[in-house]
Amino acid sequence: MPEALAALIARLDAAVQLGDTAAITRQIKHELETATQNGAVALPDRFRRVRPEGYARRLLHRNDELGYTAVVMTWGPGQGTPLHDHAGIWCVEGVVEGRMDVTQFDLVDESGEAFRFEAKGCVHAAVGSAGCLIPPFEYHVLANAMTTPSITLHVYGGEMTTCHVFEPLHDARGRYVRRERALSYHD
Ligand SMILES: [Fe+2]
Repeated sequence: MPEALAALIARLDAAVQLGDTAAITRQIKHELETATQNGAVALPDRFRRVRPEGYARRLLHRNDELGYTAVVMTWGPGQGTPLHDHAGIWCVEGVVEGRMDVTQFDLVDESGEAFRFEAKGCVHAAVGSAGCLIPPFEYHVLANAMTTPSITLHVYGGEMTTCHVFEPLHDARGRYVRRERALSYHD
């Protein structure tokens, strides 16, 4: 692992030991912003490969003892996620390269199988910026805002093996249905 990246991992190790979620995510946001502003996230080539089928999700680092993972996502032009949650796990996401459109949603109603959300506005996240998702505020959509690849680094308070995605019902009330999605790592 390149030296600058190893240094960032060491700083993440320290951050996740701060105790409460608010302090941890605040510090990780600071670490990701500093590292990406300084170009310190020098990723090995395999993390840069775009997958034509959809965005790539590759494990950069996992620390079982401290209970966190760092995941790199690589987004080709036009690639993005559906509306999804984070399985109740906190997350901090920083932009390493390119630019992302990030739309946060609030869950406003849940009745039976149907869910309603309110979009909280779209943020154009550029290199050097990072955002936190702290449950119960954990619903969002990510999309590459560029016509070239973008790369993001995600730090999770655990290992996210499943999440929920929300598919529009296309009814008059703008409701969604929830589906479980298994998550895995690409090569
Ligand atoms: Fe997400």
